[in-house]
Amino acid sequence: MIAFVGAIAYVVMVHAQETQVARELQYNARFGVPDVAPRCAWVFVLDDGVLDEGVLAVPGGFPLHGDLEAVRSSGVAVERDVSANGTEYMVLTTPGSDSTTVQAVFDMRYLLADRRHLLLALGIAQVAGLLVAALIGLGVSRRTVGPLAEALARQRRFVTDASHELRTPIARAYLRAQLLSAAADLPADQRDSLDALARSIRGLSDVVDDLLQSAQLNQGLDGVPVDLTAVASSAVAGERERAAERRIALTVEHPGGPLMVSGVETALRRAVDELLANAVRHTPEGGRISVRVGSRGGHVELEVADTGEGFDPAEASLLFDRFHHGRGEKRFGLGLALVREIVTGHGGEVEAVGHPGRGARFTLRLPMARTGSARPRERITSACP
Ligand SMILES: Nc1ncnc2c1ncn2[C@@H]1O[C@H](COP(=O)(O)OP(=O)(O)OP(=O)(O)O)[C@@H](O)[C@H]1O
Ligand SMILES: [Mg+2]
Repeated sequence: MIAFVGAIAYVVMVHAQETQVARELQYNARFGVPDVAPRCAWVFVLDDGVLDEGVLAVPGGFPLHGDLEAVRSSGVAVERDVSANGTEYMVLTTPGSDSTTVQAVFDMRYLLADRRHLLLALGIAQVAGLLVAALIGLGVSRRTVGPLAEALARQRRFVTDASHELRTPIARAYLRAQLLSAAADLPADQRDSLDALARSIRGLSDVVDDLLQSAQLNQGLDGVPVDLTAVASSAVAGERERAAERRIALTVEHPGGPLMVSGVETALRRAVDELLANAVRHTPEGGRISVRVGSRGGHVELEVADTGEGFDPAEASLLFDRFHHGRGEKRFGLGLALVREIVTGHGGEVEAVGHPGRGARFTLRLPMARTGSARPRERITSACP
């Protein structure tokens, strides 16, 4: 802003000065006589070949004899800028009255000094303005970002502490459930229920481990190598029964070998489970769901496509917002938001493509793990027996 305002002020000032000098030269050429010209101005008159320079000291190099002769013979006025004696002069040579030729000279040194002062003042204002803006920016950003970073750190601490504290009681509950189900004199139905209880506790333990690992991942620790082909196959196997109930054909397609990414296996499994659960829910009976895993340009891609109700393409990016769900849906609208959090936490991205009535396709794109770069870490679930 200071530079903009300064540039306008400078241009206006130079224009005003030049107009003023041109007006003075015109006046002096018409009415001035040698020796009577005002300060910083001189007038020379060539009359019948005789030059009247006056008696005052004139600056070196003046008058401009060439211009006087040229104007005398052509009768056409000449105006020029001359740099001499460490300053600039504006010179107007014009035919005078009674066959005379007049040359008016104006020394611009004070006007040039005014311009330099203005530029200096603008430069100082510019530097001071930038300094003040930088200081204000620094202060404001510290004030706003500081509490945010602290809140995030506190949240991460809470998640790690809470999940760490929950691991021991969960491990004990799991052990107790297993011991009870191993008791010899239990009726079969109670044993089945206890086995189911043990499996649920095991699932709870996975979720808690997952939370702990996610919090550590956010701090830049390496994940473990995870085979997305295996994750996709086991997620499809888990959903097969539900799909069969609804007569939906569920297929999985992969290159045959492992496709490794670095991350938290349970979290990635949850993301794929969520995509599959959504696909099954939004595909009518007799439809088709296909899961495809492949690699492209240093990334592993996992795609879940269905032939279900689809969605409006304009809605695609909103689906990943928390609490966003389709019209008439009575669910939480959290699943895809969690999928995006998991995927971006792994340095990847997720994309949704769909058309009303023509199905939907969700693609997870994750950086492929470089062989040997991911450091295997001891699984935290080892706390559970
Ligand atoms: N395969 C799909 N086909 C069509 N629409 C889908 C599909 N998957 C998700 N959607 C749309 O995206 C919305 C958001 O999905 P999201 O999984 O986030 O929430 P939800 O399934 O409604 O609830 P939650 O997963 O929390 O139980 C859904 O309500 C639905 O409208
Ligand atoms: Mg969902």
